[in-house]
Amino acid sequence: MFKIARSLLSMINAERAHELSLRVLEAGLYKRGSRSDHPCLRINIMGLDFPNPIGIAAGFDKDARVFKAVQDIGFGYSEVGTVTPRLQLGNHRPRVIRLNQDKAIINRLGFNNCGHDVAYERLLQRDYQGIIGINIGANKDTVDKTYDYEIGIKKFYNLANYFMINVSSPNTPGLRDLQSPKQLKKLLMRIDDVRNSCTYKYGKRIPIAIKLSPDIACEDIPMIIEQIIAYNIDAIAVSNTTLSRPSNLKPRFVKESGGLSGQPLFQRSTVLLARVYKAVRGTIPLIGIGGITSGESAQAKIEAGASLIQLYTGLIYQGLPLLNDIKSHLTESTKRNGANRLEECIGIKSEEWAAKPLDECKR
Ligand SMILES: Cc1cc2nc3c(=O)[nH]c(=O)nc-3n(C[C@H](O)[C@H](O)[C@H](O)COP(=O)(O)O)c2cc1C
Repeated sequence: MFKIARSLLSMINAERAHELSLRVLEAGLYKRGSRSDHPCLRINIMGLDFPNPIGIAAGFDKDARVFKAVQDIGFGYSEVGTVTPRLQLGNHRPRVIRLNQDKAIINRLGFNNCGHDVAYERLLQRDYQGIIGINIGANKDTVDKTYDYEIGIKKFYNLANYFMINVSSPNTPGLRDLQSPKQLKKLLMRIDDVRNSCTYKYGKRIPIAIKLSPDIACEDIPMIIEQIIAYNIDAIAVSNTTLSRPSNLKPRFVKESGGLSGQPLFQRSTVLLARVYKAVRGTIPLIGIGGITSGESAQAKIEAGASLIQLYTGLIYQGLPLLNDIKSHLTESTKRNGANRLEECIGIKSEEWAAKPLDECKR
């Protein structure tokens, strides 16, 4: 059944296939996952209790349409967005390209989303207890981009279980510059201030994570980490899509503009994850994203330093059965490692991963 649905979806345009998947989930036409996950998968991160560490990455549910379905299926949490203050149409089509042989996607969507108000109204209807992260960004035409993050936090403060600050999408000009030392400091200072005032107003402190690009220079990691810690950020997600094109990518796609995700991103994002893990030395938990396509690659993310993981492109190629494959594999590998809980395996191979090159050598 899944195989038939997946091969039908692969025959239509990638964006239409995505819209169709959202409609199927909105209509409730999906198989509910098991109500309880193996206890070894439970993890408490950022003060939140996750039933399992696996989430669908941002971009899948940009407008908060299927956050409940995502958890009914068996994901440990949902991340909605990226949402920007105002509706944005994004770039011209085609803007999502499938690289079937590479099990990858290049997207240059450009933060297409319906804006804060639409997501807010949907999230307001929420009637269950699962964990929802809200991934916030800036409109393309906003001059002071830090302002858009401030209003995102204020808007969703009472609805979010955590925020993800997206400064790493490659498809909004100037956005990734917010990771530069001067701009990052200004942004994080503003975010810290707005959270402090919201904590006072609502009587609760909502955790804030930041999502990094896999293209940051490794020599900038210490400075980035220093700022992140100084301004009380609660978690770091590594990584968003890459503008780099690994040498083993099929040549005809090398010139397509946009962010590359999926299998070819795995090595780069996992090596960077491990380097960030080494740099934070246990002070901040990490969320490992990029190229998870199997139980083994999910395990590798944990062993490189991730406390939580997220996937997107792997689901496009493997479909929902991938989720159960990952859960079973993580449960088995935890036992094989002689551990009682998956969290005991976090970072156990970080040294090994951190020493690898960012890109795989040519096959
Ligand atoms: C079609 C598409 C849209 C995306 N949109 C967003 C987005 O709006 N915000 C964001 O933070 N990341 C976005 N991403 C990046 C993913 O969240 C994720 O970081 C990246 O795809 C790497 O994970 P993967 O290899 O499992 O896909 C998008 C990715 C894809 C493929």
